[in-house]
Amino acid sequence: MCGIFAYAGSENAVPLLIEGLRSVEYRGYDSAGISVIDASGVIQTVKRGDHKASLENLAVTVGDGQLSGVVGIGHTRWATHGQVNQQNSHPHSSSNGVVSIAHNGIIENFLELKDELVDSGIEFLSETDSEVLAHLVGKSVASGSSLREAVIGAASRIKGNTAIVAVSAAEPNIVVGLRVGNAGGIVVGKNADAAVMASDTIALLPYTTEVIYLEPGEVVEIEKGAIRLFDLEGLSIEREPIITAQNFEAAQKGNHPHFMSKEIAEQPDAIQSAMRGRVDFAAGTISLPEVTLTSEQIRSIDRVILTGMGTSLHAGMFGASVIESLARIPAAAENSSELRYRNPVIGPKTLVIAVTQSGETADTLAAMEHARRAGSPQAVVLELEGSQASRIADFTLPIRAGQEIGVASTKTLIASMTTLLQLAAVLAETRGVIGTTAVRSIVESIAELPSLVATALGLIGQITALAERLSKFDDLLYLGRGAQLPIAFEGALKMKELAYIHAEGYPAGEMKHGVNALLGPNMATVVSAPQNDLYEKMLSNISEVKARGGEVAAIATEGDVMIERVADHVIYVPKCHELLQPFMTLIPMQLLAYRTALALGRDPDKPRNLAKTVTVE
Ligand code: F6R
Repeated sequence: MCGIFAYAGSENAVPLLIEGLRSVEYRGYDSAGISVIDASGVIQTVKRGDHKASLENLAVTVGDGQLSGVVGIGHTRWATHGQVNQQNSHPHSSSNGVVSIAHNGIIENFLELKDELVDSGIEFLSETDSEVLAHLVGKSVASGSSLREAVIGAASRIKGNTAIVAVSAAEPNIVVGLRVGNAGGIVVGKNADAAVMASDTIALLPYTTEVIYLEPGEVVEIEKGAIRLFDLEGLSIEREPIITAQNFEAAQKGNHPHFMSKEIAEQPDAIQSAMRGRVDFAAGTISLPEVTLTSEQIRSIDRVILTGMGTSLHAGMFGASVIESLARIPAAAENSSELRYRNPVIGPKTLVIAVTQSGETADTLAAMEHARRAGSPQAVVLELEGSQASRIADFTLPIRAGQEIGVASTKTLIASMTTLLQLAAVLAETRGVIGTTAVRSIVESIAELPSLVATALGLIGQITALAERLSKFDDLLYLGRGAQLPIAFEGALKMKELAYIHAEGYPAGEMKHGVNALLGPNMATVVSAPQNDLYEKMLSNISEVKARGGEVAAIATEGDVMIERVADHVIYVPKCHELLQPFMTLIPMQLLAYRTALALGRDPDKPRNLAKTVTVE
């Protein structure tokens, strides 16, 4: 995930920007750059696109002391739009040279804005979406706006979640930061000699332990010893700083009470990272450079088996459903502890895809070993590159969600789902099941995924009362069908792990075959029922529960008034392409479990009896 660090003070900003970027380096990056305003008031920018060596190379390049200035911005980039190279690295300057900006997020309407700017005579130097911001801000500043007004104006033109930092030669003492939605946070702090801004609290600790977190829809100006906060209308906001305990763990949590809430909130960012370098939004294409299978091998696959444990198995189930529906290859997900012992019939035409965030889960590794012995081509979808699983698999698809500290998986699931969706599209296109137009339409839909998930995250208000209610039950039933079934399973798993409430995930069509015997006032049912082909069937299932005196909470598509007539509680999620619906319904499932755990006084970060990495069977 991209990182930001900015400084306005009295010392030479250059080495401080490099140090600041080093402290956000753990987020991952492939490019790095800084802009400073030099003594003559000119913005000077140095950047590198040398993958992992970028930051060190940048430090060496500016280490000769030639460049100096007391105000500047720095950025570590993880490419989403355009190659990893120097031109595409941030910061980007406006063509009139008056401003320089760095940006986190995806600008969904960047092509439209780029066309408009090109028509007005502006020449683009990079392939990034972010460069449009530099020109929009630069134009307003040149026509007399303050940097703050110009950044707000530019942000109002773009679609998508965004964090921006900017400097202007016209106001050489300040840095402006802005946050809209969830594209990574911005935190600011000051001491008598400086004010600093970063994506992570940890980068501010050398300066201060008193920090202010920007909320979505806020803009900040920092200047030596001063912080000024505003809303997007330009009205001043008063906020007392929070004192951050001086330890790494508290600093990593930022303004979140738990790692889990932080990791849930990071999901728009995690999705974006998982698409980085894979989805070309301008060309409307998806490619997975990591896939080592030849086109001929892909065409010869006659079955796909996805395997994993717990939440990763649910990602695998989602993967099976999209691979089968998009690529039309028979696909199924199976628990690794079962797969490893049942001597499955698999061979060179069976593609085995293991899903494991840690890459160390004992049963998953054993199932993978079995597939290797059977001669099946094998992929692993994982967070921790270099782990044992990546050594067994033929190729690795990193999910790049960033380190997950909460024991219960959240952002690694959504990033695995994003990766598997892209794999399904690549398999489908290579096999000729879908053409370039269909891929382009998938790209257009998934471009909106980070902001749709960010909108769904705003549901927390609706969730709290429902969580209080569910916390009163000892038994919960979670129902889903089709691609919603893994989400129902995941909802139940999260509730068990975090709130210690007995919860069963069930295919809704299976109810009459036994589970109906349990229905009644003592068991509440959570139903995942977005509007799709199976929606009406879900309505009938809700009625079945109601007819037996059960209480129902439904997760439904925004605008669906019908469902309110049958369910007791409705949580609405944004309308979207059917392929993306599981991403939408997953969010309330996570939030519900988290909130219910809090209502019952549990520690959501460290559920009892559970470990983050399960290295024994
Ligand atoms: C649930 C959870 C676990 C893991 C499972 C597999 O919240 O975190 O169910 O998903 O232990 O772990 P990995 O993905 O590391 O193989």
